[in-house]
Amino acid sequence: MDRLRIAPSVLSADFSRLGEEIARVEKGGADLLHLDVMDAHFVPNLTFGPMIVKALDTITDLHLSTHLMMSDPEPFLGDFVKAGSDAVIVHIECYPDPRRVLEKIRSLGALRGLTLNPGTPFEAVEPYLGDVDVFLVMSVHPGVGGQGFLPDVLQKASRAAEQKRTKGYGYEIHIDGGIDLCTAPLAARSGVEVLVAGSAIFRAPDPGAMVGQLRRAALAARSE
Ligand code: DX5
Ligand code: ZN
Repeated sequence: MDRLRIAPSVLSADFSRLGEEIARVEKGGADLLHLDVMDAHFVPNLTFGPMIVKALDTITDLHLSTHLMMSDPEPFLGDFVKAGSDAVIVHIECYPDPRRVLEKIRSLGALRGLTLNPGTPFEAVEPYLGDVDVFLVMSVHPGVGGQGFLPDVLQKASRAAEQKRTKGYGYEIHIDGGIDLCTAPLAARSGVEVLVAGSAIFRAPDPGAMVGQLRRAALAARSE
C-alpha cells in the first residue's frame, strides 16, 4: 500500500487555456490526468469526447484515465483508446454485467476501469473485481465538479482494499469527488491509491503546489 498517486480532473480547469493548466499540474508532480466524459443522458451534463482526449494526448506525457459517464459508451471505446486513453472507466449502472465491455477495453489495449455511483452497493461490482485494472469509488453523485464528499462511500474503498489483499486482485483503487486537504487523508486511510481532484486543484491559487499538498496530506494520514 505504498503507492499514492494524484490525478487532477480537468473538469475544473480553465478550458480556454488547457495546455497551461495541464503544464502547471504536470510540473507540480501530477501522476496522471482524469478526464470526465458526460453524455447529457447518464448524467445531466455534457462535456467532451475523443477529439479533446486526442488534443490532450498531444500536449502531455501523463497517463490519461477516461471516466465515461455515458449510458452506452461501448460504440465509442475504440475512439477513446485511439485518442490516447490509457485507462477507460465504465459505470456498473450502465452495464450490470460489464464483462463483455471490460474485455473489449482490454482487447483495445487499455486498462479496464469499473466504477459505481454513491448509491450503488459494493456487491454490484464485487463479482467483476478480478477482471479490472482500475476500481473507482465515486464519492459524489456524478455530473458536476465541486460537490461535497460523501463519507459513507469509504467503506467501499476499504472493502476493495481488503479484497485486493485477500484475493490477490491487481486493480488500483481510485476515488473521485470532493477530494481536498480534509478528505484526502480519510481516503488514504481507507486504502485509496489514486486521489482524483478537480476543484481542489484547479481552483487553488497554485494548482501545481496543491498536487504536492494533497499527496503529503494523504501520506501523512497513512503513516499515523
Ligand atoms: C464528477 C466527476 C469528477 C469531478 C470531481 O462527476 O466525475 O471527476 O471532476 O470534481 P471535484 O474534485 O471538484 O469534486
Ligand atoms: Zn470523474
